[in-house]
Amino acid sequence: MSEHKALYVPEKQAPFAVKSVPTRKPEPGQLLVKVESAGLAPVDWAIQAMGILVEKYPAVLGMDAAGTVVEVGEGVKKFKKGDRVLKESSDCDAFSGFQQYTLAFEDTTAKIPENVTFDQAATIPLALATSAIALYHDGENAIGGTCGLTPPWEEGGRGKYKGQPTVIFGGASSVGQMTIELLKLSGFGPIITTASLRNAEFLKTIGATHVLDRNLSPEDLYAQIRKITQESFKIIYDAVGTSETQNFGYELLAPGGILAAVQHDLIAPEKKVPEKKSFFMYGDVNVPQNQGALKPIPVEVVPGGLEGIPAGLGKLRKGVSCVKLVAHPQETA
Ligand SMILES: NC(=O)c1ccc[n+]([C@@H]2O[C@H](COP(=O)([O-])OP(=O)(O)OC[C@H]3O[C@@H](n4cnc5c(N)ncnc54)[C@H](OP(=O)(O)O)[C@@H]3O)[C@@H](O)[C@H]2O)c1
Repeated sequence: MSEHKALYVPEKQAPFAVKSVPTRKPEPGQLLVKVESAGLAPVDWAIQAMGILVEKYPAVLGMDAAGTVVEVGEGVKKFKKGDRVLKESSDCDAFSGFQQYTLAFEDTTAKIPENVTFDQAATIPLALATSAIALYHDGENAIGGTCGLTPPWEEGGRGKYKGQPTVIFGGASSVGQMTIELLKLSGFGPIITTASLRNAEFLKTIGATHVLDRNLSPEDLYAQIRKITQESFKIIYDAVGTSETQNFGYELLAPGGILAAVQHDLIAPEKKVPEKKSFFMYGDVNVPQNQGALKPIPVEVVPGGLEGIPAGLGKLRKGVSCVKLVAHPQETA
């Protein structure tokens, strides 16, 4: 059996170490990916340093991975050897990112566009999942909760919330950046975020309309927000998750509003009222409850391989609805 190198935690809170581990063969519906870039997430250090979340050791960590498919399991249709892919990890073992080869599930792996590098791709899975699941999960079996917004990739979703203000605490964090981008696609505005002011210009390039200093006192922050808008806030996203941000965000919410937080509930119980909701999000696309939160565009295959494309273009010209046409060049007669 072949082997590869993995960074692992031998037992709870023990120092990281590198060792050789067996390279597992992908089972049906799985891929084996050569990891070219692995993203580092706060949860990775927290598991090792604080002994949280993981009970089974030795454990391999690393939530985010980008690389090349080197083998596909039985029945895999969407991927082939050589595809550049990104994936979120799930098991602190053979599916984790901090190793030279990782397993991936076909259903929760995505191809990387040509203009995105492996390093850029490795920034996406966990942050996007944490943001998108909290904002757009359809609510069925949602862990914790959901804002229940119509996703921008569904019909009528793009720009749907035009003119609704929102606040995102921690806009410069990975999760915060994804949330700014998604809420911009959803049409929200103004998009107010907190960050170190050195990040203000960059955050405006990705969609924030106002960047307020993360070090403002709650009173000053409130005054600055009210200078920007007097409208009520129905959606607030807390990508920081401290007691300060959660309590401030909850107070700022309008009745009927929802606060999504990246950490467990720290809102003072005496502040809780039935007409305001808050929830702790669970940003893992691999648990069944979260699958389907991020849906690819519905696809329709044009028959006939390359020769079928002109007819497909004709159909496209007349207009398609909520579907992307694709062709399979390998099916060319
Ligand atoms: N629930 C889940 O499923 C889930 C999933 C992923 C992450 N998380 C949690 O979400 C949080 C963010 O994760 P991440 O990967 O996005 O972190 P990250 O990118 O490492 O976050 C770093 C950023 O946080 C910002 N920040 C820190 N404290 C802030 C504050 N008080 N106000 C405003 N900004 C602040 C800093 O902004 P400046 O540089 O501008 O100062 C910094 O750029 C972490 O607590 C993580 O554990 C939860």
